[in-house]
Amino acid sequence: MGRAFVYVILGGGVAAGYAALEFVKKGVSHGELCIISDEPVAPYERPALSKGFLLPEAPARLPSFHTCVGANEERLTPKWYKENGIELVLGTGVKSADVKRKTLLTTTGETISYKILIVATGARALKLEEFGVSGSDAQNVCYLRNIADANRLVNAVQSSPGGNAVVIGGGYIGMECAASLVINKINVTMVFPEAHCMARLFTPKIASYYEEYYKSRGVNFVKGTVLSSFDFDSDGKVTAVNLRDGRKISVDMVVVGIGIRPNTSLFEGQLTLEKGGIKVNGKLQSSNSSVYAIGDVAAFPVKAFGETRRLEHVDSARQSARYVVAAIMEPGKTGEFDYLPFFYSRVFTLSWQFYGDNVGEVVYFGDFSGSTFGAYWVNKGHLVGAFLEGGTKEEYEAVAKATRFRPAIEDLTELERQGLTFAVTV
Ligand code: FDA
Ligand code: NAD
Repeated sequence: MGRAFVYVILGGGVAAGYAALEFVKKGVSHGELCIISDEPVAPYERPALSKGFLLPEAPARLPSFHTCVGANEERLTPKWYKENGIELVLGTGVKSADVKRKTLLTTTGETISYKILIVATGARALKLEEFGVSGSDAQNVCYLRNIADANRLVNAVQSSPGGNAVVIGGGYIGMECAASLVINKINVTMVFPEAHCMARLFTPKIASYYEEYYKSRGVNFVKGTVLSSFDFDSDGKVTAVNLRDGRKISVDMVVVGIGIRPNTSLFEGQLTLEKGGIKVNGKLQSSNSSVYAIGDVAAFPVKAFGETRRLEHVDSARQSARYVVAAIMEPGKTGEFDYLPFFYSRVFTLSWQFYGDNVGEVVYFGDFSGSTFGAYWVNKGHLVGAFLEGGTKEEYEAVAKATRFRPAIEDLTELERQGLTFAVTV
């Protein structure tokens, strides 16, 4: 039993939704495109899960945040896919892939064949068990990657009014969930191994601003240590978190955000992998010319850096999705993917954006005791990265443009003196 399509998108997340819209804009015919997803719902804006979805008042719920509302584009409901002749196969995993035969075998036993496959399988949350700690299945231990996780987190919050939570991990999930828990009047302790939060991106000075802000909202920080075990009650609920430094913290709930692994397993031994993802060229084409990869799972050449990177951010998923459809449908008109990395976050009333790369010397600007400040990264005599908290729309656009332009920087002191004005006038 099986069906055949010209184009198949494997995975039904952010990248799949944006690719679907682009296929329709480029005039895909009815019946040509199929999307297979193990999630039970049509593609949605995953970033909502750690923000609007967790609000105590008027929380965001589907269908309000289906793609592509995050980029102010059309909201693609299941009806939209139907009207546009796109086969949306939901709640169905792909359990094996054969890139030589160009077939996928689903968990329902169906073989789906393609002429062109776009892999958009994203990533999965790393589990505590992978770090030697058991207890991930306890009902009050929460991860956050999909709608099911988000519902479980909301249930845990609602079962712990005024209670205590430990958030394990000081990255994106840790920071955004800690803020959402505080807004839900839960007392939060954040535990992470590094000396400061957001260690992959923030400098100690930038991190200190956010940590002080979080402390002013009641968050405790336990840094430089990791979880060693949980205590459980007779129902299997976690009652305390034991840390490697000997501390014990009583809890009503735990949130874990300790990083992700790209979902590549279907293609191991079939496609070339790099940086934990599927290696693709400047056309986002893998080592098999009929297979493309986009979003979190793709390791692609970032032209501005002259090296292959895998990015785990929504803008990269959206842009790579739009690009790949153009590269497939209009190959003659489409050059190579030229992407400037862009990350952002919003917590409490704070909001920051980052463009480019955080390598080289750091030049700070603005008022770190106020609400607008930032930093430039200068590497080998050029501006390569910029961070801005509390900017206006125009200021964010200016730092993005300046970073894309990579201007030569001769005098760091002068750059510091000019601060944000430098980006606005470059
Ligand atoms: P994504 O994970 O969205 O989709 C992958 C899809 O493939 C899923 O539906 C999955 O179930 C499916 N799948 C995987 N294997 C399969 C199989 N074998 N068979 C069938 N289906 C399969 N970024 C940012 O820049 N700003 C932000 O504020 C946030 N906020 C944020 C919050 C939370 C809670 C998370 C988890 C993530 C973010 N992100 C973010 C990151 C951003 O959401 C992420 O980069 C994109 O979702 C990546 O899009 P993809 O389509 O690549 O993967
Ligand atoms: P992350 O990579 O941002 O952070 C992982 C954190 O895990 C590290 O900062 C570290 O503190 C911690 N850690 C590592 N090993 C540990 C250990 N043994 N014990 C305890 N802590 C440990 O990953 P994440 O926060 O889990 O986020 C998951 C994914 O979701 C990422 O791809 C991220 O980009 C994405 N996301 C992005 C945003 C955003 O861009 N605004 C928001 C939410 C999620």
